[in-house]
Amino acid sequence: MATRPMTSPAGYDPLDEATLADPYPQLADLRAQTPVAWHEGMECWLITRYEDCMRVLRDHETFARDPRRLGIQVPDAHLSVQVLDPPQQAGVRSLFMTALHAQDLDALQDRLRQMIRELLAQFAARPVVEAMRELAQPVALAAIAGLLGVTPPPLDEWAEISDTIMRSMDAGLNPELTEPGRRARAQLSHLVASWFTTTGQPAGLLGHVRARTAGARPEQAAYVRHTARVMFQGGYSTLTAALGNLLHTLAHHPEILPALRERPGLVHTAVDELVRFDGPVQGTTRLAATDITIGDTAVRRGEKVTVLVAAANRDPQTFVTPDRLVLDRTPNRHLGYGWGTHACLGTVMAQRVLAALVDTLLDTQVLPRPAGPAPRRRTATMRTFARLPLSLKAPTLPTL
Ligand code: HEM
Repeated sequence: MATRPMTSPAGYDPLDEATLADPYPQLADLRAQTPVAWHEGMECWLITRYEDCMRVLRDHETFARDPRRLGIQVPDAHLSVQVLDPPQQAGVRSLFMTALHAQDLDALQDRLRQMIRELLAQFAARPVVEAMRELAQPVALAAIAGLLGVTPPPLDEWAEISDTIMRSMDAGLNPELTEPGRRARAQLSHLVASWFTTTGQPAGLLGHVRARTAGARPEQAAYVRHTARVMFQGGYSTLTAALGNLLHTLAHHPEILPALRERPGLVHTAVDELVRFDGPVQGTTRLAATDITIGDTAVRRGEKVTVLVAAANRDPQTFVTPDRLVLDRTPNRHLGYGWGTHACLGTVMAQRVLAALVDTLLDTQVLPRPAGPAPRRRTATMRTFARLPLSLKAPTLPTL
């Protein structure tokens, strides 16, 4: 049986330029050659086969999210739905899930379609649009603030805070990111606290949550505030990244929108396939709560296990032609939204936002086209663009 080697798998560096541009060939090599690979720099096991990734995500007894189960201290401010494991997690997770399903998501989706339509109308006269800054970020902010029922902060200020937090997720690879990340988190906590202290008619998802937690024990009330923070920041940053990835894929696969115009009923499965194909979340981490074997590799209690969902989502053992976009792929049990007790709380909302973009592109006949170099952001955890220059116009028909 294999045990932990002293070296990293040859050539795998998630922050390498070539990997950032296209991680999938390297992930395929890793999956084929060392599906459970120790990475010395990241100090974790990299898991790349779909079945192994699914097993880790499903088995929360063996693979802990909450470091306190391994005796590692966690600051109180970090304890949210994302860090707590069952049974402690159950109450806060079901509270937010129920609140999400109580929202009028049809109306919210209509408002987003209208917003996107107006933005596309403004872009029609421009040769190049920086689609992250001018489309993905404002739409993601409107979506998440609309869902929670809060007034959105000014986009410039907010984008800076969110970017700093996102970059600090790679502090393991670059410790200099830790302190700016801590300061940005404090700014975010301040913003979120204001949503829980304002008086007046509560609205949206947070209104629902506030109404049901009035008088809750201080510990529960803190979990709720921290979860609101995770929803706002996590929801915004993954949505921004997902909108950018989707626009980029559409720009480089100009056959997709005409195919969807022929079969509009496929928008829902297509949007899911686009997340499988190039989703924003590359991986997520757990801690082995006990000695355990994955594949033929012995993992010891306390070791970090990183589930590379981006690799699992292209596993040929699970997906036929995994490197191709199949707009009507069914079933499509991809791991882009995670799986199990920590699966994405915002999946329904994310699918609606992405569908709102595709619907509006179809309605307006706008075809995204590449309009310059599109560098990826240097982060290992979130696959996103630093800049995405696109032309966003409807083709002009030749006059007779
Ligand atoms: C396309 C966009 C999105 C993608 C691809 C995505 C992906 C994910 C993934 C993979 C996880 C699981 C992480 C893990 O297992 O450790 C997750 C968790 C989570 N997501 Fe999303 N997400 C998206 C959008 C959103 C939105 C819009 C919201 C909020 C409305 C949201 C809220 C959350 C929360 C609160 C969790 C933590 C759940 C828990 O630990 O119980 N996400 N997301």
